[in-house]
Amino acid sequence: MLAASVTSFSSDSPLDGLQVGDVPEPATREHWTTVDVRAASLNHHDLWSLRGVGLRKEQLPMVLGTDAAGVAPDGTEVVVHGVIGADGHGVGPRERRTLLSEHYPGTLAQRVSVPTANLIPKPAALSFEEAACLPVSWLTAYTMLFTTGGLAPGDSVLVQGAGGGVSTAAVLLGVAAGLEVFVTSRSAEKRERALSLGAAAALGPGERLPKRVDVVLESVGQATWQHSVRSVRPGGTIAVCGATSGDAPPAELARIFFQELRVQGVTMGSRDDLAALANFVSHHDVKPLIDSVHPLARTREAMAGLVDGTQFGKIVVTP
Ligand SMILES: NC(=O)c1ccc[n+]([C@@H]2O[C@H](COP(=O)([O-])OP(=O)(O)OC[C@H]3O[C@@H](n4cnc5c(N)ncnc54)[C@H](OP(=O)(O)O)[C@@H]3O)[C@@H](O)[C@H]2O)c1
Repeated sequence: MLAASVTSFSSDSPLDGLQVGDVPEPATREHWTTVDVRAASLNHHDLWSLRGVGLRKEQLPMVLGTDAAGVAPDGTEVVVHGVIGADGHGVGPRERRTLLSEHYPGTLAQRVSVPTANLIPKPAALSFEEAACLPVSWLTAYTMLFTTGGLAPGDSVLVQGAGGGVSTAAVLLGVAAGLEVFVTSRSAEKRERALSLGAAAALGPGERLPKRVDVVLESVGQATWQHSVRSVRPGGTIAVCGATSGDAPPAELARIFFQELRVQGVTMGSRDDLAALANFVSHHDVKPLIDSVHPLARTREAMAGLVDGTQFGKIVVTP
């Protein structure tokens, strides 16, 4: 079957190690299901894998991709939860949690095999392309807003970055939930687009907010950390899920302890959280924002948007 795999690592030129070609069909295992992939979305995680973060040389080649929507053998339309082993389904008792494409082959393929418990029904109102956006970026944004952040209608949130998968998900989910959403972006055009999605204000990097917010969603890291610490109200929360721009900002410890801030890491969410997110988008008629859709055979071109950071919303690949 056709798949997009990482075959070598390069931190400067990650696409050099990307190969789209024939790979063996997924192995069948007891209590696992092979899903016919109809759409998979790209995530920054795929770029980290191509850069050699989270994978060892001995594991190559590894099929990329951490989320998908498709069809199960019985004809059911499903969404694939990409976290394997966290709840003990379908794996050995002491197997540690991994994400698809870290230990088991990923979703940028015509077929993918996952523990059957990792499947949830596809929301009927979403296309396969839209549904494929839910399991990583959208789930992470949902967890940061509502589980970690504990946000309720009327509360305020700052989303660092406007164009990314996590950022666009956070804006759309936050607006649907009645939050006052502030956004930053390096790009004037992306700030305009964030406003059109319902953000209350969109600011340039480091710009002062009209008020300090209850929660900050931090996925950018070094470039925005100081602004995040300065933008949250005393006693508020910074939810951190990524560090795209670097992992060594000044810690701002004095402000963190003096303002009694909470810093909470987030990694995606559980299968039940994904099911709750699917219910949320169905009830609120929210649809993931898609930047572009590309055939699997052209994954390299699709991935270039992620490398350049030019995307606004999710980049989707279809086999
Ligand atoms: N922990 C988890 O479970 C989890 C889940 C999903 C993602 N992540 C991580 O979260 C990060 C974002 O993921 P994603 O899929 O949303 O990535 P993405 O689609 O590539 O988005 C990148 C975002 O970062 C902003 N950005 C990038 N470089 C920046 C810089 N130097 N200064 C300011 N802003 C910058 C961009 O904002 P503008 O272009 O608008 O300025 C954009 O919103 C990645 O590091 C990813 O690995 C973690």
